[in-house]
Amino acid sequence: MTAEQREIQALTREFAEAEIAPNAARWDRDHGFPRELLARLGELGLMGVCVPEEHGGAGSDFLSYILVLEELSRADAGVGVTVAVHTSACTLPLLEFGTSVQVEEYVPPLARGDAIGCFALTEPGSGSDAGALVSSAERADGGWHLRGSKQWITNAAFGGTVLFFARTDAGTRTARGVSAFVLGTDEVEITRTEEKLGLNSSVTNDIAVDTFVASDRLLGEENHGFRIAMSTLDGGRIGIAAQAVGIAQAAYDVSLAYAQEREAFGHRIADFQAIQHKLVNMSMEIDAARLLVHRAAWLKDQGRGVTEAGAKAKLFASEMARRQTAEAIQVLGGYGYTKEFPVERYYRDAKITEIYEGTSEIQRLVIARELLQKVHVPAS
Ligand code: CAA
Repeated sequence: MTAEQREIQALTREFAEAEIAPNAARWDRDHGFPRELLARLGELGLMGVCVPEEHGGAGSDFLSYILVLEELSRADAGVGVTVAVHTSACTLPLLEFGTSVQVEEYVPPLARGDAIGCFALTEPGSGSDAGALVSSAERADGGWHLRGSKQWITNAAFGGTVLFFARTDAGTRTARGVSAFVLGTDEVEITRTEEKLGLNSSVTNDIAVDTFVASDRLLGEENHGFRIAMSTLDGGRIGIAAQAVGIAQAAYDVSLAYAQEREAFGHRIADFQAIQHKLVNMSMEIDAARLLVHRAAWLKDQGRGVTEAGAKAKLFASEMARRQTAEAIQVLGGYGYTKEFPVERYYRDAKITEIYEGTSEIQRLVIARELLQKVHVPAS
């Protein structure tokens, strides 16, 4: 890591340990953190870490952003996903695919944290098969009439900007014929707030849209919005992988400390090989996951393709986090199952990383496609 990357990591860790971690159990119970936290993260430059300075961001690279997500998630994974969706699923695609006018209008408020970003792809009837979405965009005088319902939209209640995917070619039923639009949350009705197993401090909404927007809200090319969704998720998955690493690291930290304090049969439980093996496996798998995440982030910083590397990082890190947070509960025994220690929260929070931004099954599908594309099939 460069000196700048280490500095951003240290700054985030310091802030997260002082201002986020001590409140995480309460925010989990209360189902939310104060909006003020996002303003503070904005002041530190953490709402637009890898957004160029001329667009209101901190001007750092993608790896720095990934380091920030790991540190935030280590303190509170709900805060981690809020920043992840805001940045890699909304701000970055606007920066990459927006016209200069769109970038100028939407990116600076997002990068400063004045507006919060959302990504509205999933619908009640289309999750893994994202291309089956039925929200529609019909041409109307000078623009588009957008209609549809979206489900599990992280951050919608905060207010800000929504990347909204709708079918612009009514003759298609697959990923072809879908376009991306930029909406304000004032153009969206929040119809429900989801109750979840974990990540309770983050907000997850159902939304409904029935609105006219001018033609300048189309992002990228008409009928080619699915590519925007897919390349957005390629980068976003690296962020979710970093979130998983942060959760697992937090679980390991608690387990290591507990194992050296708790006594049984006249010894610290850390002296028993059964516990040592658990700690070793945790530490090793966290290292391995983190290296996959950093490789994917480094490739992205080099402008190289990350479809395979990002999917591998997410797949391994998320399954590792689920496995190792369960092991953390096992190290703490009965205490691990209670609210007295945070490991039960880490376990609940880790599970979602195997589901959102593409399930583990979809990551395997994406990786398999990439691997098979590389195989040279000799002509018969
Ligand atoms: N980058 C750019 N373009 C891509 C791409 C990529 N990685 N992958 C596919 N595309 C393009 C294709 O080239 C094709 O473009 P053309 O139509 O121009 O030829 C188009 O996208 C369709 O591609 P496919 O035929 O491969 O599409 P498919 O229907 O077979 O679907 C899929 C592929 C991988 C299964 C996809 O549907 C998918 O990723 N599903 C999972 C959805 C997902 O991750 N949802 C997460 C929701 S967001 C979220 O969770 C946020 C949150 O709150 C945390």
